Amino acid sequence: MPKAKISALGCYVPPRLLTNFDLEKMVDTSNEWILERTGIVERHIAAPDVATSDMAVEAARVALAQRGIEASDLDALLVCTVTPDMYFPSTACLVQHRLGAKKVWGFDLIAACSSFLYGMGVGAHLVMAGTHKKVLVIGADTMSRIIDYTDRSTCILFGDGAGAMLIEPSEDDNNGLIDFLYEIDGSGGDALKMPAGGSRMPPSHDTVEKKLHYVHQDGQAVFKYAVRKMYEACRELLARNNMSGKDIGCLICHQANRRIIQATADRLGMPPEKVIINIDRYGNTTSATLPLATRDAVTEGRLKKGDLVVYAAVGAGFTAGASLWRWAY
Ligand code: UT7
Repeated sequence: MPKAKISALGCYVPPRLLTNFDLEKMVDTSNEWILERTGIVERHIAAPDVATSDMAVEAARVALAQRGIEASDLDALLVCTVTPDMYFPSTACLVQHRLGAKKVWGFDLIAACSSFLYGMGVGAHLVMAGTHKKVLVIGADTMSRIIDYTDRSTCILFGDGAGAMLIEPSEDDNNGLIDFLYEIDGSGGDALKMPAGGSRMPPSHDTVEKKLHYVHQDGQAVFKYAVRKMYEACRELLARNNMSGKDIGCLICHQANRRIIQATADRLGMPPEKVIINIDRYGNTTSATLPLATRDAVTEGRLKKGDLVVYAAVGAGFTAGASLWRWAY
């Protein structure tokens, strides 16, 4: 079975910034509260005419240019998102058309904040099956479209953005995906959801009036699950590969709350220089946090060729997991 490596990476965030000080003017909150409880300073917000596929296309173009290939060289295209342009056609189809990716097939993958982690795994397995040579996995979310900016418990958390990773066979058997551990637990479904708009509760005047098309979260329930699960997934994954946090060069977690990431890192025994935290600049971009954090890790020289990297995420569903890779470029 060929190994699957990440061979290129592209990201996009919209230019407009929403700072904690802006939010102070919108809801009853403070810069101090947001910083202390979440680690967030600012987030990027898409312009009204920008949708998820627009940001996905921008990120994809950067990844393709970095690798020096055309969209028509791709075999498959996955778009990980909870904020598709519309239910159907899939955002993957919209992105395929805009990119001119003539020979791909593809689909949207919905697993909330674990979407990109799962997408990386699916992309890698398409390559490892020997049936695909170039799979583009995009994580893109326009969270600002499903956030109630009068609800201080959620509106301070999220931002918009996109990232894309190209996954290809690795000529070097040591590089690429080593192992993964994914898990879903639907008993946590009520803790974080957008209640209306689907077949259970279709859109109506009533659902709009009750603000049921926005993110609703029991923050503490999600926090408790995330703190436990993020660590457990990493620990178990490392243990079954006879490793511990000390063997890992870089820990890249979903960026939902600085405290969750720090608790995970501390329990794994990983020093701050090996832990990528960029939630201060982007907030929680849902499907885009892992590629955005990877880009910053590479740019800052904290993730280099040959390093072992653990990716971890927890999100609505609940969805959770971790994967272990050796970085290939
Ligand atoms: O990515 C998907 C997964 N999502 C997550 O992982 C998020 C997990 N949860 C969290 O990160 C945290 O639970 C939050 C950041 C959402 C909230 O932090 P917390 O420390 O759990 O605060 P809390 O919900 O327990 O609220 C504490 C207090 C409450 O006031 P009282 O009842 O103690 O008087 C809230 O009403 O803080 C209040 N509060 C705020 N105060 C100022 C809640 N939101 C705000 C706010 N500004 N924005």
